[in-house]
Amino acid sequence: MQTDFLPINGTDYIEFYVGNAKQAAHYYQAAFGFQPLAYAGLETGLKDRTTYVLRQDKITFVLTSSLVPDSPVSEHCKLHGDGIKVIALWVDDARKSWEETVRRGAKSCLEPCSDKDTNGEVVLSGIHTYGETLHIFVERKNYTGIFLPGFVSWDPVYKPSSVGLKYVDHLVGNVNWGEMNTWAEFYHEVMGFNQLISFDDKDISTEFTALMSKVMASSNMYIKFPLNEPAHGKKKSQIEEYIEFYHGAGAQHVAMATDNIIETVIELKNRGVEFLRVPDTYYDTLLDRVGKIDEFLAPIREQGILVDRDEDGYLLQIFSKPVQDRPTVFYEIIQRKGAKSFGKGNFKALFESIELEQERRGTL
Ligand code: FE2
Repeated sequence: MQTDFLPINGTDYIEFYVGNAKQAAHYYQAAFGFQPLAYAGLETGLKDRTTYVLRQDKITFVLTSSLVPDSPVSEHCKLHGDGIKVIALWVDDARKSWEETVRRGAKSCLEPCSDKDTNGEVVLSGIHTYGETLHIFVERKNYTGIFLPGFVSWDPVYKPSSVGLKYVDHLVGNVNWGEMNTWAEFYHEVMGFNQLISFDDKDISTEFTALMSKVMASSNMYIKFPLNEPAHGKKKSQIEEYIEFYHGAGAQHVAMATDNIIETVIELKNRGVEFLRVPDTYYDTLLDRVGKIDEFLAPIREQGILVDRDEDGYLLQIFSKPVQDRPTVFYEIIQRKGAKSFGKGNFKALFESIELEQERRGTL
């Protein structure tokens, strides 16, 4: 077997470009239980942007907004609305990661550069992926600071508790019509990922909508990037709706893992997070479909949590509604009980509930 030319330790951070980072930071603290970590802005010498960094266990969100009308951040927000700009990957060697991927055809967005402060050195480099999304390679083995050089500690009085989110399980990208193979090949050829599973519109279609999906994973399986491409159905698919409102390809949802989905979802709902709800009939035959599960059915049903089984075990999952005005980015909360798949058995029920939402938005 070929040695892994791009070993990745995990997701380092996810950076969102948003209209108002201060308010977005409050939302992720209050609603999702992220803890304040770091800040950069006017007070730290930046003139054109503000960034808040929040963390919950192994998940780090970076929220950046522009202070000026013409900047890459404001241009991004104008075109895409609030969205994911950077999916940063934690590596041991950011120079080698850049060289290996660029040599295999990646388009560079950041040549390897060293950033130092009194806490040590970080090496960053970066490449383009689908749409205007970037992968930044972060090498932090010689760094002991809270986040990155240039950031100061952010320690407000307001600190709502965590909701039990642990790590990024997977991060899904929506690619444009006809681009699936381009990007699946990109992850395979340029980043050394392997394809786990493939669905086509026979697997994932309802009366009205269809999509294609392929799951690309790093060889150590720490990074899983499912990719969706719209497919033709009777009406507009949710992927098509995303691409229309995002004005191109982009990150669709971040799946965050918990050890107790029932408690996490109850807490998220109490804090105002809204979730999609499948028809109640889904639960009438659930246990016939998935067999015995450790949890009681009543709270699963009450919270609208979905269950699916594969040959390795089962999983519990639920999907939020979009978290900004445009019907683009949303979240998945997932608890794995052995299953390594992504909830294929729930797609049909789920898409039917998304179609109900689309119908309300007039975008079906
Ligand atoms: Fe997912």
